[in-house]
This record gives sequence, structure tokens and C-alpha cells, in this order.
Amino acid sequence: MPGMLTEIDHVAIAVNDLEAAIAYYETAYGAVVEHRERVERDGIDEALLNVAESYIQLLCPYDPSSTVAKFLATRGEGMHHIGYRVKSCAEVLERVKAAGQRVIDETPRPGSRGTTVAFIHPKGGFGVLVELVEE
Ligand code: CO
Repeated sequence: MPGMLTEIDHVAIAVNDLEAAIAYYETAYGAVVEHRERVERDGIDEALLNVAESYIQLLCPYDPSSTVAKFLATRGEGMHHIGYRVKSCAEVLERVKAAGQRVIDETPRPGSRGTTVAFIHPKGGFGVLVELVEE
């Protein structure tokens, strides 16, 4: 029986300069930007670059009070979270909560690209911030 995580949707990297990070992936790896979006709710600009059916998600805050800005200030650039694709964000979120795990989003919310997402707290998740992504 397959598990509830169907794919790795994206690996998210927090960066200080979005254009520089895009240029790096284009130059070094020939990566292609498929989507760009300002996600106002999160105070960030993002770029999604294709890796087969998954993405590298480059995150750059434009709002200095955003959580990604705080992350960059305290931890510097680097891996920010991993996004797992799921069939039902609500279903997996309920299961995670029932397992006693701490969540950031109590209910699913809109993500970029018209997806539905929910974040799971890194405490309890071995230090990794997890995002559930339903397309
Ligand atoms: Co993400």
C-alpha cells in the first residue's frame, strides 16, 4: 500500500537575492524557471525551477517581518523546508495532529500556484519544516 506522501513537490531554499539565485541555477545546472509568484500572505517572492516532476523553490522575502526574513537573519541562506505532495492536505494534517505532532497551520490554507498547503512544525519533525502540498 502506498503511503500518503505521493511525491516530493519541492525543496525550498531561502535566499537573500532571488535574481542571483535564479542566475546560479540557470548557469550552473541549466535549470529552467517554470513559475514566479509574489506570495503576499508569506511576504515572499518565489521562483520554481523544474527538477523532473518536482521543483526547487527559491524563496526571498520582500517583507522584513516575514518568517523567511527572520530565518535568513538568524540562520542565513540555505534549506528552508521540504514540500511533500499529498492527495488530501486536510486528511494528512488530521493524521499528523492525531499522532500528537505540533503543526503551524491548524487547517489547510492557500499556497502558491493555486495549491492547498499546511506546514508542520520542525520541532518533532527532526528539525525539518515540512509543507504538505495538495495540487
Ligand atoms: Co514551499
